[in-house]
Order: sequence, then structure tokens, then C-alpha cells
Amino acid sequence: MDLLDRRFLFVVGKGGVGKTTVATGLALAASRRDKKVLLALVNCKERVSQLLDTDPIGSEIVSVRENLDVVNMTPDAALEEYGLMILKVKAVFNAVFRNRLVRAFLKGTPGLEAWSMLGKAFYHACPPRGEPDYDLVIVDAPATGHALDMLRVPFVIESVAPPGLLRRDAARAAEMFRDPERAGAVLVTLPEYMPASETIELSNALANEIRIPVLHLVINRVLNVLFAEKERPVLETLPSDIGEDSEIRGLAVAGKRRALRETVQARAVRRVCSHIDAPCSELPYYNGLESDTTAIEALSEALLRTV
Ligand SMILES: Nc1ncnc2c1ncn2[C@@H]1O[C@H](COP(=O)(O)OP(=O)(O)O)[C@@H](O)[C@H]1O
Ligand SMILES: [Mg+2]
Repeated sequence: MDLLDRRFLFVVGKGGVGKTTVATGLALAASRRDKKVLLALVNCKERVSQLLDTDPIGSEIVSVRENLDVVNMTPDAALEEYGLMILKVKAVFNAVFRNRLVRAFLKGTPGLEAWSMLGKAFYHACPPRGEPDYDLVIVDAPATGHALDMLRVPFVIESVAPPGLLRRDAARAAEMFRDPERAGAVLVTLPEYMPASETIELSNALANEIRIPVLHLVINRVLNVLFAEKERPVLETLPSDIGEDSEIRGLAVAGKRRALRETVQARAVRRVCSHIDAPCSELPYYNGLESDTTAIEALSEALLRTV
């Protein structure tokens, strides 16, 4: 089954590995396949507007391309929407949710902020009644630990909340999130030792503890391989064989450095791929992601070919 035929994807990984970039690339790719897509950011200092060259993205959903909407969810705005969905009538909502004590209570309830955002994103993919607004919702999750905390919430609510609307919604979400035909995680990592280790741990936590399917692995910023495996050990020892005054010493040092990086990369890729049983895309380094939309378009095309 195609990754982009799911209804709900979480893009997860360590901070800085490229989650937002990959989430945006996937969202563009799906919109190209004629899916109606919502890219939902979780209360972050967003860079999607830079990637796609649009106005800054706020807590209201905006359309940025044909078939592609984006929102930067905040707990306050999401809670308000959620409250309105439950209470239906604005006057009742105002009376209840604008109450200082009620707001203080909601803010103090652990997990509720996370659920307001996750629940909002879920509602767009799977409303309690009628057709969903979107074919696919992609959540650009917060960094590892926070993402796991967030993803645990519906399962906790499902098991501890008293029967009622909140528990019913959480149970519906929990069921969808564990259904590999409809939802799952896309892990993003870098081809280096530490990120690979963290990704393996994250994948274990998702698959074994939270039991959310890991559907795809993206190894981001993969170096173009210049040297064959047999050539690398030769290069790695070169500088010690070449005199200080040799004209090719600079070349040798550069060659050695590159060969070492390629060796580290090959090991990290092998390790992460042997632990994570999911299809994998490797993305190269793209110049100009911040300044020119052709870079994110190219990244999106590369994803489209490999997911
Ligand atoms: N494939 C890539 N090529 C070049 N730069 C990248 C690539 N992926 C991410 N980046 C850069 O790395 C930085 C972090 O990416 P970002 O998507 O914001 O990571 P995260 O959301 O995981 O924190 C950004 O400056 C981004 O432009
Ligand atoms: Mg990000």
C-alpha cells in the first residue's frame, strides 16, 4: 500500500534532522497526486512559509497550493475549536470556555493541550460525522520525547477518562493511529552514528510501546558517495604516507576526510535499515531550501519517486 494513501501520518525524529522539511515535501507530493492535504504543525516557530514562499502560517488554516492547506496549531486555538465542536453554540462556548476558572482547569489538565492539537488534526482526517475535510493529514510532530508524550495521550485518555465525548474521540483516534492501513509514523534521521541510534530507539518505542506502525524511514542529507568501499581504507591511511611538503597533501587530507564520512554514513545506514523494517527513502543535500522553492519541489519529487 502506498504511503500517501494513508489518512494520517506523523513525521517524527530528533530535532534538526529535517522533519519539517520532509513533512512539507510529503505534503507537496501528496497534493500532486490529487489528494487534498492538510499539513499540521504543532505550535512551532514555523519555517514552512519560508520553504513554500508564503505569508507566515498562523493558527488559522490557510491554502498555500492547490490541494494543500497548512496550519500551525496552538493549544489555545485548538482547544477553542475543540470546545466549539463539542458545545456547538458559540454563546454556550463563550460562557463555558471564556470562564477564567474553566480555562485554568483546562490548562492544568495534563495531556489536554497535546490532545487539543492532536485531536483537532484527527478531526480533520476523521470527523465524527460526515466526510472528512482532507484525504490526508500530515502532522509535523515535535522532537522525539515530546512527540512520544503527545502520541501517548489518546491511549491514556482512552483508558482513564470517564465515559463521554472526550473518551469516545480519543478511542476513535487511538484505533486509527494503530491501523497501518490508515495511519502511522514516518521516521526522519541522518546518516550518522547518534541520530541512527536515537532513531532505532524511537522506532522501538513507537512499535512496541505505543504500537503505532512505523510506515517509512527517510534518511536525510545523505552524502553522494564518491569512493567505493574498497577505496576508502586506502584513502583513510593516505595522509600519513605523504610528506608535509607534497603538493597532493591537501587533496589527500580532503580525500581521507571524505572517505571517513562515507564509511560512517554507510555504517549508520546499514544499522538503521537493518533495525527498522520499513521502506526507506534517501534524500541528498539540497542547496537553497530557505531561499528558493525549487529546492523543496525537487525534494518532494524525490520523495514521490521513493515512497
Ligand atoms: N535535505 C536537506 N538538504 C539541505 N538542508 C536540509 C535538508 N533537510 C533539512 N535541511 C535543513 O536543516 C535544517 C533543519 O531542518 P528542519 O526540517 O527544520 O528540521 P526539524 O523540523 O527536524 O527540526 C533547516 O535549516 C533545513 O533547511
Ligand atoms: Mg521542525
